[in-house]
Amino acid sequence: MTSPSTGNKTQWSLARRAARMNPSVIREILKVTEKPGIISFAGGLPSAKTFPVPEFAKACATVLANDAQAALQYAASEGYRPLVQMVADMLPWDVDPARVLITTGSQQGLDLVAKVLIDAGSRVLVETPTYLGALQAFTPMEPDIVSIDSDDQGLRIVDLRRKYQSGSAPRFLYVLPNFQNPTGRTMSEARRSELVAAAAELGLPIVEDNPYGDLWFDQPPPAPLTARNPDGCIYLGSFSKVLAPGLRLGYLVAPEAVYPKLLQAKQAADLHSPGFNQRMIAEVMQGGFLDRHIPTIRARYKAQRDAMLAALAREMPGQDEVDPDTRMVWNTPEGGMFLWARLPRGMDAVELLTKAVEKGVAFVPGLAFFADHPDPRCLRLSFVTPSVEEIRRGVAALAAAVRESMPVAA
Ligand SMILES: Cc1ncc(COP(=O)(O)O)c(C=O)c1O
Repeated sequence: MTSPSTGNKTQWSLARRAARMNPSVIREILKVTEKPGIISFAGGLPSAKTFPVPEFAKACATVLANDAQAALQYAASEGYRPLVQMVADMLPWDVDPARVLITTGSQQGLDLVAKVLIDAGSRVLVETPTYLGALQAFTPMEPDIVSIDSDDQGLRIVDLRRKYQSGSAPRFLYVLPNFQNPTGRTMSEARRSELVAAAAELGLPIVEDNPYGDLWFDQPPPAPLTARNPDGCIYLGSFSKVLAPGLRLGYLVAPEAVYPKLLQAKQAADLHSPGFNQRMIAEVMQGGFLDRHIPTIRARYKAQRDAMLAALAREMPGQDEVDPDTRMVWNTPEGGMFLWARLPRGMDAVELLTKAVEKGVAFVPGLAFFADHPDPRCLRLSFVTPSVEEIRRGVAALAAAVRESMPVAA
């Protein structure tokens, strides 16, 4: 057989934005963790045990029995009307259904926002650290991404004001107030009200990403930023963490000034999100199912978080050291899926990963989540997919790796 490429002069010239699409650093790093038998704290996946399979089976049969032709047909880009209405009704502020757009996961919301709001060279403000998938969605549009210093209450308003003023008006601030990915931290009420007031004063639009807000452990987080200033914010929500990510459904709520453009960008991207899946989710949600289902996810994830906190306190070396710089420190997330830790001075999370994997446990080094000035000592631990027993064994293995890698005191 002759090669079809003989004499082929085709020249593929990639767009500038394609050059910016790099393989996820995390995926590359995590290839080493795919060995069988590894206990993984690395994944960003919800626990598959939370997927309501019997409810989906029933909903699937109902949709096919009652509405198969419409469910399998092309449909409106805005989304399946009953689901749009359910989204508007469940959000904690007065949402006009005409401002809701059903998306193919909230990841698509980030992509549409990037296409509609970012030009090459536009400044975009983000928290330090921030969600890697957002950086991946924004970067191809060639923005200048500026990190705002953050503490355990969220981003610092002083730094926001300083960086806002240090260049052209930013197109938006991207922020995750609830159980943030990667840190698990929650923005305090005081910080939220200060942020919304500062953004309104500066005229700075906010993109609020909230896939984890329902997964609180002891008390619900403070009200979303968007509830406080709907005209100044785009809100992104998701069904991935409360129902199932495989259906790829999320939503956004956007003010009139940008909604039509986001809708047009969506039409260009995929015409609409799968109508069949939208009907399934609407069917499952009938009769307040989420109000019964979400508490079971919260209870499961809280028990897993507690198991990880207890194991860390028990196993990590040097916990009686007074200087936090000489021992591993971690936070206590009040919801969500992730815990954030920082290694003792002189240690590097990427180097630790190799040793940890040898001992049978994996995590994500934190550096991938920084738009600039990465902190090599940070790491993200997911506590939702391994069992409590695996959490115990995994943390013991991680502690052994830390112990062996700790710099010897002078
Ligand atoms: C902060 C954040 N935003 C958005 C997403 C995307 O979620 P999905 O597209 O499944 O709704 C994720 C997924 O992990 C996330 O952590």
